[in-house]
Amino acid sequence: MGLRSIASMLCMLALGLSATASEFEDKNVINLTASNYESKVSDGKVYLIKYYAPWCGHCKRLADTWKQLGAAFKTDKRIQIGHVDCTVARDVCKAADIKGYPTLKVIYKGEEYQTYKGPRELSALKAFVQEAATDLLSDS
Ligand SMILES: *[C@@H]1O[C@H](CO)[C@@H](O)[C@H](O)[C@H]1NC(C)=O
Repeated sequence: MGLRSIASMLCMLALGLSATASEFEDKNVINLTASNYESKVSDGKVYLIKYYAPWCGHCKRLADTWKQLGAAFKTDKRIQIGHVDCTVARDVCKAADIKGYPTLKVIYKGEEYQTYKGPRELSALKAFVQEAATDLLSDS
């Protein structure tokens, strides 16, 4: 294989990687990584987090819904929508006991409150996190 074809292969790889990130990237969805996860999820807000892998089909299918969810709560002071790329933040996902992708959890003050098992639809997800916030924030 010539240098030129190696170079073009690397280039394609780089394009592929950036396409993968932007597919999930959104200004209203906080990207949690090993460096900010602990401090963010302990800040007193109710977090709905999607633990995912960029290659997973069900994760991709959920990407748009997740952006809509982020937009829906962008001005909400109690609720924060986030995600963790488990191929990057492996230790975070290991500590959260993630066994499949995507896994959706509500985290509050650094602790898991509930895993979401319902339909992956905007209205159902919205209702779920709102209810969790009501439960969590009313008895404090
Ligand atoms: C989130 O941050 C990690 C680490 O900086 C990065 O590798 C990843 O592409 C980011 N993901 C998104 C969707 O922004």
